[in-house]
Amino acid sequence: ASSLQHACEEPAFSEHKDKEYADVDWDKLGFGLVPTDYMYVMKCAKDSVFERGRINPYGNIELSPSAGVLNYGQGLFEGLKAHRKENGSLLLFRPEQNAIRMRYGAERMCMPSPTVDQFIDAVKQTALANKRWVPPPGRGSLYIRPLLVGSGPILGLSPSPEYTFMIYASPVRNYFKEGTAPLNLYVEEKFDRASRGGTGGVKTISNYAPVLKALTSAKERGFSDVLYLDSVSRRNIEEVSSCNIFMLKGNVLSTPATKGTILSGITRRSIIELSRDLGYEVEERVIPVEELLEADEVFCTGTAVVVASVGSITYQDRRIEFRTGGRMACRELYETLVGIQTGEIEDKHGWVMEI
Ligand code: COI
Repeated sequence: ASSLQHACEEPAFSEHKDKEYADVDWDKLGFGLVPTDYMYVMKCAKDSVFERGRINPYGNIELSPSAGVLNYGQGLFEGLKAHRKENGSLLLFRPEQNAIRMRYGAERMCMPSPTVDQFIDAVKQTALANKRWVPPPGRGSLYIRPLLVGSGPILGLSPSPEYTFMIYASPVRNYFKEGTAPLNLYVEEKFDRASRGGTGGVKTISNYAPVLKALTSAKERGFSDVLYLDSVSRRNIEEVSSCNIFMLKGNVLSTPATKGTILSGITRRSIIELSRDLGYEVEERVIPVEELLEADEVFCTGTAVVVASVGSITYQDRRIEFRTGGRMACRELYETLVGIQTGEIEDKHGWVMEI
């Protein structure tokens, strides 16, 4: 018997399925879950390969209480977006990079993973099945969330006997409640996000719950997000709970090098390439927090966050403010990236997949 079944047999919201758009107030979208019609599910046994998946109605899943993911956190996730073009087609941004990253993470977490082709096919099917939930051009995107989890039952600590790959989706707009206003970051010194030899560089679900304590406390004090330091010296910056970080000094953009403790963001890598195209010098290296505080401009990058300007950083008892107006590198990079993602700027890198 399967350890994962769908509680819901009938497609949700079936009465409006023929409409071009779902009944959503697009202007009120933030980054909260808006359930859509369908999800993708594919399973495989340990030491086996994924074979055939299917699109199912979106709904709750049934999972053994002893599933590996629930007990020992054996799971990975990904995130990518689909934008709607004026001609009605959808644009996916670098889905093969998510597929490759999931395969890399699965190896670290002792899980089988879908092939790159299976991953892309599943993403396409999920996006197209939920097309009416993709916001109109310029009003947001469909956030697509692939998950790979150990769904089979275990008791002792070991890899799960069964794995489930799922994808669900939700229409979204701005990640932060600040909208597009500059972020106020807090530099965390008590809690670490990742350690040497750990899993900070893979997109495992178990990297995210441990930051909730620092994040919640910072939000209660009015900050937008938390910037973590390396766990050895606690002097060098690593990443923010939900995104990567960049600083600009003169014409040089710098971002922490990914050496196992920092997630290799797809937006991060894209911004590095676009920055070079636009004439900036780019360095991936160790960045002491004290150097960050001297930056001309600071910004964050991520699939959910896109490119977000940082207005202030609070470190120990100092609050340092950064330039947020005038000719901003982060504005130029945001417009270039989103222009490519939405099909308004020529995609010279071949990053966009039209479906
Ligand atoms: C993304 O940007 O896609 C992420 O996975 C970050 C998450 C905290 C929303």
